[in-house]
Amino acid sequence: MYKFVLIIVSITVLSSCSKSLSKKEVEQYTIQGKEIAQATAKKLGGTLVEKMKDGGVKDAVPFCNAEAINLTKEMSDNFNVSIKRTSHRLRNGENKPNEEENNIINNYNKLFSEGKKLKPIAQLDQSGKPHFYAPILLQKKCLACHGEIGVDITKKSDSIIRSYYPKDLATGFKEDDIRGIWSISFNE
Ligand code: HEC
Repeated sequence: MYKFVLIIVSITVLSSCSKSLSKKEVEQYTIQGKEIAQATAKKLGGTLVEKMKDGGVKDAVPFCNAEAINLTKEMSDNFNVSIKRTSHRLRNGENKPNEEENNIINNYNKLFSEGKKLKPIAQLDQSGKPHFYAPILLQKKCLACHGEIGVDITKKSDSIIRSYYPKDLATGFKEDDIRGIWSISFNE
């Protein structure tokens, strides 16, 4: 009998570890994730546009270099989450994807190449926290720094980008390409 109880207890403990989000929780985290991603994109984009207006790529790249990660951190604190932008073709090594993010990106790229619709994902991550993922698509206004060198990116801009990011892989994108993903971890 004692052994039997032990088995039941261990089954309960094990199954609670591999718990997944309920349908309602998935909906809730998807809505919240979208809101946070949009607010962060707006914050980053708004400041970038100002810098581009002031001094073009020459001023905007140093700004991104110094501030993109700080602004993302500030938004993380505001929402009490952890916000990351990551990619399969990185510019900034500090945004490197982890294994789970890599899998998500690969999956989005596969769906994209098959012409399928890309939907946001909400699920528990390896550490058991609710996590939101969504693709970041390339818009026209991104081309000046992520498009084709010599076509969208001037040679001068390219040399500025390379001076900050000698290992840059984040050029050669076209409009509507997958530039990367939002990866947002909730603290509960
Ligand atoms: C003025 C140049 C500039 C423009 C315009 C620009 N970016 Fe970037 N982007 C950068 C720089 C510099 C970095 C590296 C700094 C960072 O974010 O950590 C970067 C990093 C990123 C990253 C993080 C992943 C990585 O490779 O490090 C994503 C995602 C991204 N950009 C998407 C976009 C999108 C989408 C747009 C358009 C809405 C855009 N960028 C417009 C310069 C630019």
